Amino acid sequence: MDDIYELIKQRRSIRNFKPDPIDESVIKRILEAGLWAPSAGNLQARTIFVVTKEQMKRDLSDACFGQDHVAQAPLVLVGCTDVESMRSYYGKRGTTLYGICDVSAAMENIILAAWQEGIGTCWVGNFDEEQVRHALRIDKRFLPVVVVAMGYPLEVPPAPARKCFDEGVIVL
Ligand SMILES: Cc1cc2nc3c(=O)[nH]c(=O)nc-3n(C[C@H](O)[C@H](O)[C@H](O)COP(=O)(O)O)c2cc1C
Repeated sequence: MDDIYELIKQRRSIRNFKPDPIDESVIKRILEAGLWAPSAGNLQARTIFVVTKEQMKRDLSDACFGQDHVAQAPLVLVGCTDVESMRSYYGKRGTTLYGICDVSAAMENIILAAWQEGIGTCWVGNFDEEQVRHALRIDKRFLPVVVVAMGYPLEVPPAPARKCFDEGVIVL
């Protein structure tokens, strides 16, 4: 898609995936888009874990309170902020705000790049952080911020309504 505005509007959260795997070179291209997102002080204190193992995806789905699309997706990403790094550079603002923003900015780039490749995603925020860490066997310094289920869409749902412009934007 050539028009970024069309891409942004047409992207949908996908919760039904084809089982087809995603080519490694395509995954790499998509993930690289995440690296180019802005980050506080350009620290880039964020890590994206890539999961394709069936058991690990099932464990992640459990950690997301049984959301099926997490287990069903051929690939699942978990975006984490490095809490220790954030704390040492920015104190409380680093751990409660910047880290979340950094991971979210990277993930939005990834989500849009994936759509450009014809690949659907679903941002999953409802999970138990400790259980996600346990599923991935990762250290406490990583705080999971967002889980993203990813794969070729089986179906694309209609667009949920958006607020009208004047409700969401106030020009002062
Ligand atoms: C912070 C955040 C948390 C979300 N958590 C979930 C979730 O746990 N499960 C899910 O299926 N979708 C989740 N979503 C996706 C939203 O439901 C979805 O973006 C919204 O309904 C708008 O639909 P659209 O993405 O197709 O435009 C989340 C999105 C965001 C940004």
